[in-house]
Amino acid sequence: PEPRPPIMDLPGSPGPRLPPRPPARPCHRPRRPRDLALLAAVLGTLLALAARGYVGAPLIGAFAPKQESARTRRKTMFFFSALDVNRDMYVSAEEFKPIAELLRVIKPLSGSEKAQEVVKEEKSSLQEKLTIVARFQPLLLDTMSNSKSGFREISDVILSGLKNWTNPALSSNVFSASQFKAFLPPRNDMELGEVWWIIPDTMINKTCAYLSDNRFYPPPPKGKEVIIHRLLSMFHPRPFVKTRFGPQGAVACLTAISDSYYTVVFRIHAEFQLNQPLHYSFWFCPSQFTGHIILSKDSSHVQDFKLFVPNERSLNVGLQWLHGPLKNPNVDHGYLPQMELEASGPSMPSSIQDKKINETDSCLPSEEAVQFKMEDIVWQQELSMEEAAQQLERAMYDFKKVQYLPFTKAFDRARAEKKLVHSVILWGALDDQSCTGHTLRNIVLKNSSILTLLNEKFISTWSLFGDLQEILNEENEFYKKLAQLHLEKYEFPVESLVCLPNGTVVNNIHANKFLFKIPERHHEKKKVLAFYSPISLKSPDIYEEFLREGLLRAQVFLQP
Ligand SMILES: *[C@@H]1O[C@H](CO)[C@@H](O)[C@H](O)[C@H]1NC(C)=O
Ligand SMILES: *[C@@H]1O[C@H](CO)[C@@H](O)[C@H](O)[C@H]1NC(C)=O
Ligand SMILES: *[C@@H]1O[C@H](CO)[C@@H](O)[C@H](O)[C@H]1NC(C)=O
Ligand SMILES: *[C@@H]1O[C@H](CO)[C@@H](O)[C@H](O)[C@H]1NC(C)=O
Ligand SMILES: *[C@@H]1O[C@H](CO)[C@@H](O)[C@H](O)[C@H]1NC(C)=O
Repeated sequence: PEPRPPIMDLPGSPGPRLPPRPPARPCHRPRRPRDLALLAAVLGTLLALAARGYVGAPLIGAFAPKQESARTRRKTMFFFSALDVNRDMYVSAEEFKPIAELLRVIKPLSGSEKAQEVVKEEKSSLQEKLTIVARFQPLLLDTMSNSKSGFREISDVILSGLKNWTNPALSSNVFSASQFKAFLPPRNDMELGEVWWIIPDTMINKTCAYLSDNRFYPPPPKGKEVIIHRLLSMFHPRPFVKTRFGPQGAVACLTAISDSYYTVVFRIHAEFQLNQPLHYSFWFCPSQFTGHIILSKDSSHVQDFKLFVPNERSLNVGLQWLHGPLKNPNVDHGYLPQMELEASGPSMPSSIQDKKINETDSCLPSEEAVQFKMEDIVWQQELSMEEAAQQLERAMYDFKKVQYLPFTKAFDRARAEKKLVHSVILWGALDDQSCTGHTLRNIVLKNSSILTLLNEKFISTWSLFGDLQEILNEENEFYKKLAQLHLEKYEFPVESLVCLPNGTVVNNIHANKFLFKIPERHHEKKKVLAFYSPISLKSPDIYEEFLREGLLRAQVFLQP
């Protein structure tokens, strides 16, 4: 596609010119030394140009070579706008005066420590900053299953951390653009959709390892964790960037590449501790944080940033709390309508950002005087968000090496291909960070022999209990019947089924039968056991047996 012309027409470049603007209001305040220091950065160039008689002539065109990076271009615009007080896109001799003034100041300094100081200050004021805004709507308490009993089983003290959390800890915060370099790809030849880990999963190769529930304060974040920790701290003061259960960490991939910019899409698993010592711990585990960032390849500029918890499913947060020193944790789920961070605009040199806040302080580079325009980014390659999300998901979940179709699509496909349906019904989602199902997917569904069996003989699907109930209200009689047959077999929290393409269940198994070593007398406490019992090492064997038994029973039906 044709690159679009830059927003701001540069004098000297071909193309339409903006009509000269009326002179800006006169500036009576003297320029401050800080502004002058800023201008020093282009001094060399300006001097050279002045010497060649360019003053009064279009300046920018003169130092805008074709291969100029976006960064140089931005700086050029910045300095030019700073000098071009009346914004007629020409720097007159009058407007050049501060540079002349600066020459007087700088010369006696050169070589001295003071000169270095000026350079240092000038560098830091060129560093770009951006403001991130937080939006948060508290968890809807009536979506928790405990609400049905009026929270009778939970004391107010345990719930107080959740009930108190009605606002983000910080509704806005300023970051420097360079802090976002943690989101840059590790190599500059990464392809679209190629996944890398921002925060590696330390438990990825360990089955059933998890971090202690009994922690209140996050460990000090290190390296790339720092920025993610700082961002999540805007919601709540105690974010843990490493979750207790896998998959931990954060993954990212590129979805667009231009000459000097990347669009990075990411997925972060993190959780919050809502209570403090003297109370028992209360964990708040959003399904995931996802979002994107558009940043320059040297991370000097952030054009756009957004991070959020998806809210399209009926439940998107896992909750766990202790209610006694030796008791097993309690588990519930809930719905969180909104939890997101967004950049209020592109990053800007901090000197401008500061002045924006103190508009009246100086009339030199005020927001009005320095229209900090970005050129349009021309993307050379792009990948759809859907594709990117799948890539990130596969990196975090080995079990996604088998395709899991939506419920009704799975049965459509099974009928077309004359295959059986392997279906998992859960209370919380199988592929998110809510804690249900983590044992199932980590120990059973990613086992290589099970992956092979599922890929060869079955069409797989997983559903939330709540989503199946919704299908009961739909028009389609066939789908209704399918959902009904499923729900008849379901027992909290996880049930797996093998079905004929018409919905007849030929085999089913409850999670407690294959995942956990459960003493017989504890069988009624399924809720707790399903999450915390020691797992059975025979799990994959038992599950494979269950699948094969299903295949065997189905043969009777499927034979012509
Ligand atoms: C919740 O807020 C109440 C009232 O402001 C306060 O007394 C209590 O300590 C808070 N609880 C927590 C866990 O922060
Ligand atoms: C996990 O195992 C895979 C395959 O065996 C290996 O490539 C990877 O490096 C391991 N990761 C960690 C963090 O140990
Ligand atoms: C804004 O102006 C006030 C008073 O002049 C000053 O104390 C403050 O530091 C300035 N803030 C910024 C961000 O420059
Ligand atoms: C898969 O399960 C089988 C049977 O339990 C076991 O022998 C094998 O080690 C498992 N494979 C992996 C990769 O865990
Ligand atoms: C599904 O098909 C089998 C065999 O063709 C049949 O026995 C069974 O009744 C059917 N189930 C339903 C729900 O129609």
